[in-house]
Amino acid sequence: MGFCDDVQAAAETISAAGNITIISHIDADGIASETILSQAVARAEIPHRSVFVRQLEPLTMPQVPDDDSFKIFTDLGAGQQNLLEERGLSERDVLIIDHHISQPCSRQYLQVNCLPYGHMRMSAAGIAYLIAKAMNAANTDLAKTAIIGNVGDMMARETCGLVGLARDVIVQDGVRHRNVEVRKRDLNCYGTATRPLYLSLAYNDDPFIRGISNNPEGAKQFLRQLGIRQQTADGRWLVWEEMLQEDRRTIISALAEQLIAHGESVSRLLAETYHFPDEPARTPLRNAQEYATLLNACGRWARPQVGGAILRGDRGSSYREAERMLANHRAIIRDLLGYILDTGVTQLEWVQYLHVGARYPDTIVGIGAGMALSKLDSAKPILIMCSVPEDPNLTKVSMRTTDRVVGRGVDLQQALSAASAEYGGGGGGHKIAAGAYIPREAEQEFVVRVNKILGEQFGAAGPDHR
Ligand code: C5P
Repeated sequence: MGFCDDVQAAAETISAAGNITIISHIDADGIASETILSQAVARAEIPHRSVFVRQLEPLTMPQVPDDDSFKIFTDLGAGQQNLLEERGLSERDVLIIDHHISQPCSRQYLQVNCLPYGHMRMSAAGIAYLIAKAMNAANTDLAKTAIIGNVGDMMARETCGLVGLARDVIVQDGVRHRNVEVRKRDLNCYGTATRPLYLSLAYNDDPFIRGISNNPEGAKQFLRQLGIRQQTADGRWLVWEEMLQEDRRTIISALAEQLIAHGESVSRLLAETYHFPDEPARTPLRNAQEYATLLNACGRWARPQVGGAILRGDRGSSYREAERMLANHRAIIRDLLGYILDTGVTQLEWVQYLHVGARYPDTIVGIGAGMALSKLDSAKPILIMCSVPEDPNLTKVSMRTTDRVVGRGVDLQQALSAASAEYGGGGGGHKIAAGAYIPREAEQEFVVRVNKILGEQFGAAGPDHR
């Protein structure tokens, strides 16, 4: 059986189900996956409902309905099959659509996971889309949603664009459907539809450009010296996507020169980016990256359904609510980033860590830690802990590292799932970003244990690990 056979088997199983519950994750990829599946199922006229969980763990399992519906777990489940077994779900009751590492389980749940087939850069929304397309070829209008899920899950980050099936099948379907436009050599920068260009440039540190990254005044000055018109006649700052083609070329050449002058690589200056011509200009809906952030804001602030409504086309009350959540999301993440940098991290040999207590929600601490990492020693993974409001005995742990460190043998998913299991907790994720829940009383020992595991991972990579 190959990956396509698994996709086909899942499509047939779903089409034959009488009543479905979709259980999905609250992040952009989870919201996109749920939207794709529930639309495909609705079009097939199968009764269904959806449940979003912040993670599949003992605390959230009661949210999974204890009924006879067929359960589709998407963007989660692969790493928590033991919980499904404990719940008494049989192989006939479950389909898992996931791109997280699978944990061994005595029950052979039907699963479509791209990782065992070597499709390492496709998210759950990508798999959900392929299944939806196998159910009905008319579902190709959902490719756009799958692209948002993939980009939101950072599938395009390391490779400066989507690759593999996500690009060859999903992006192509979106382009054919005319609701996706690809820019092959675009500026690799966030906020190109909504941020004044000088701020987009200043907030970007991948690649880090001296005099511009982390330096809004420097970025403004740089554009001024190039003679670029930065504002409209009435004083509104222009965003990248509305710049003249000629100005864009001038800016990219000058940025490349700046990198070369400082002996830096230009390899990350450009990326393939995905745009939505059917969405209003200068809104976060206009490109995949910003759209995904909007969805993340909805999910991380406990309103994933609002994100789903936007994906289904609601541009009224849901969109207004999401805009408010996005502003709040950004402000709190900025605050968290400042807090991490002001408070500082405790250094162990292989990990740097901090505890933010109850100051920030457990759903966003990982995002803040990831952003702080580029301003700290990025050669060392960061671990952030916080309390869990629903359960004073639990601590949420998030870890982040860089592609470079992963390239040296570090696997945060392995470290967190192994260490949390030793203390009766549970965790999972990816090599580069992972999370776990652990008993609060184990915090100190847990960090020491993670440090030791990371030391082994770095050690296995040989002496030049840092
Ligand atoms: O919560 P956080 O943003 O740190 O999660 C990082 C990654 O780890 C996500 O892909 C998430 O799905 C995964 N994770 C997990 N199990 C947990 C917590 C997070 O698989 N208990």
